[in-house]
Amino acid sequence: MDKKFPCYLCWIFFLPLFFIYIQLHAQKEKCDEPKHAEENETCFKCHGQKNYFYFNEWIERELKERMNPYFVIPPQDFYVSNHKNFRCTDCHSEDYKIFPHSGELRMELKYTCMDCHEGDPNYSEFHFENINEEFQKSVHSQKHDEDFTCWMCHNPHSYKINARNTTNIKNTIAYDNEICLSCHADLNKYSLLTEQTNPNIIEKHDWLPNQAAHFLNVRCIECHAENNDSILVAHNVQPKEKAVKLCVKCHSRNSLLMASLYKFQFKGEKAGFYNAAMLEESYVIGANRNYYLNLLSIIITCCVLVGIAIHSILRITKL
Ligand code: HEC
Ligand code: HEC
Ligand code: HEC
Ligand code: HEC
Ligand code: HEC
Ligand code: HEC
Ligand code: HEC
Repeated sequence: MDKKFPCYLCWIFFLPLFFIYIQLHAQKEKCDEPKHAEENETCFKCHGQKNYFYFNEWIERELKERMNPYFVIPPQDFYVSNHKNFRCTDCHSEDYKIFPHSGELRMELKYTCMDCHEGDPNYSEFHFENINEEFQKSVHSQKHDEDFTCWMCHNPHSYKINARNTTNIKNTIAYDNEICLSCHADLNKYSLLTEQTNPNIIEKHDWLPNQAAHFLNVRCIECHAENNDSILVAHNVQPKEKAVKLCVKCHSRNSLLMASLYKFQFKGEKAGFYNAAMLEESYVIGANRNYYLNLLSIIITCCVLVGIAIHSILRITKL
């Protein structure tokens, strides 16, 4: 057979290209890796799971112990959070590198969000200052002052912005509601703040038909927090008397959902549907009426009326 183009030429050509590709790919993965993963491993080897080991010098033996469940931080949550590129010791004392931790460390002052984010132009789109103002006005802050911090809702080790860049509204609703339920459905956390019994959320919303469907399709803050045009997520949680109870606030053409949940989505009408952005996620009776269907029904009604009129005139003139 006449071999003008031998096989090995191909290999000589493509093999190096293949290796270059692999190299580039590996480098890219390295860039994606959180900056201080290796260093944080010294903390995660104890705080990353239910059990940890330590060497007890008194009895000269390695022991296995249970980690306090509230002190367990799943690495997979930490490394997708907003602060994934942090060292643990950026927020906590360097002295935590020593075990047993010194008892005094529990007194350490914790940073607040505003300590780092206030006035920082890099984060101007979030309007931290406005959020802080709104939060100060909220019922939580009014009643519990300094005990109620931003960290109560924004878990320092897992909080991740969601509503802003979501492609799945249902997930955002679940994420945001979980923040509220982490207290309102958990007596242990709730009782950090008050001796009162935790009101049962399901019973307190008995008046809402098909509660389960509502809680999957709207967030707590839609009904409980006052909207503010300058921020994306309302932070001023109102006293219960001011909560939205009127069905038409959502089930109507100028549904409040367009100013809250669907704030970032397309706002106009599409194919004649009012509040089209909403329609991609759910059909809200009253809020998703269709312009053309409305028009059609008016035309049909008119035709019927004209028909009746002609019919009547014919019958009258026949007599
Ligand atoms: C050998 C295991 C071990 C290592 C390593 C370790 N910790 Fe701990 N850590 C514990 C245990 C056990 C507790 C709970 C008892 C205590 O406070 O000593 C704890 C408690 C804590 C607390 C809570 C203190 C309080 O009472 O509020 C913080 C914060 C903490 N660790 C941070 C860190 C950081 C940051 C690192 C890494 C620099 C780290 N730990 C490394 C075992 C460890
Ligand atoms: C962005 C700052 C920040 C980073 C980064 C951070 N922490 Fe924390 N951590 C906090 C704050 C704030 C608290 C107190 C939370 C509160 O008061 O509700 C805390 C509390 C803790 C606690 C006590 C448990 C609790 O919920 O009160 C442990 C344990 C802990 N951190 C370990 C770690 C470890 C391990 C890392 C690294 C993987 C880490 N932290 C990284 C801010 C941070
Ligand atoms: C110790 C300083 C510090 C504290 C405390 C802190 N942050 Fe941050 N935050 C940062 C830094 C630095 C970044 C950028 C991280 C990066 O780019 O990897 C960041 C990133 C963010 C982002 C992501 C921005 C984006 O474009 O993805 C949000 C949102 C955020 N922080 C919110 C908060 C909130 C809410 C709190 C309090 C509950 C808080 N931060 C506390 C320093 C801090
Ligand atoms: C009562 C609970 C609660 C408290 C307290 C709270 N937040 Fe939030 N915050 C939320 C919820 C829910 C979201 C929506 C999360 C998401 O889907 O991105 C949010 C979102 C945010 C965002 C992202 C907004 C955006 O434009 O993407 C920032 C920044 C923020 N909060 C800062 C703060 C600061 C600063 C404080 C304290 C002054 C604070 N939050 C206190 C519940 C709370
Ligand atoms: C459709 C609107 C709506 C939604 C969604 C909603 N609520 Fe409510 N909620 C109300 C109204 C209205 C009241 C006041 C009820 C009354 O007058 O008895 C209320 C009452 C409450 C109370 C006060 C209970 C008491 O009597 O002390 C809490 C706490 C509460 N809601 C939390 C939540 C949480 C958490 C969520 C999300 C899981 C949520 N709500 C979702 C409308 C809503
Ligand atoms: C860290 C715990 C915690 C979280 C998280 C939390 N709350 Fe609360 N909330 C409380 C406590 C405690 C009270 C009771 C205040 C009081 O009467 O002392 C309360 C009260 C309320 C009330 C009733 C106010 C009244 O008039 O009696 C509403 C409504 C409410 N919360 C809604 C929300 C919503 C919406 C979210 C989520 C965005 C949320 N809460 C997140 C702890 C929490
Ligand atoms: C905060 C906004 C809001 C308020 C207030 C509200 N709804 Fe809804 N409702 C919704 C949304 C969003 C859906 C869409 C659910 C879906 O996609 O299935 C819905 C769905 C429904 C459904 C259909 C549920 C099903 O079985 O699929 C009924 C019936 C309903 N609402 C009645 C009411 C009544 C009655 C009230 C007043 C007591 C009310 N709603 C108040 C937002 C709201």
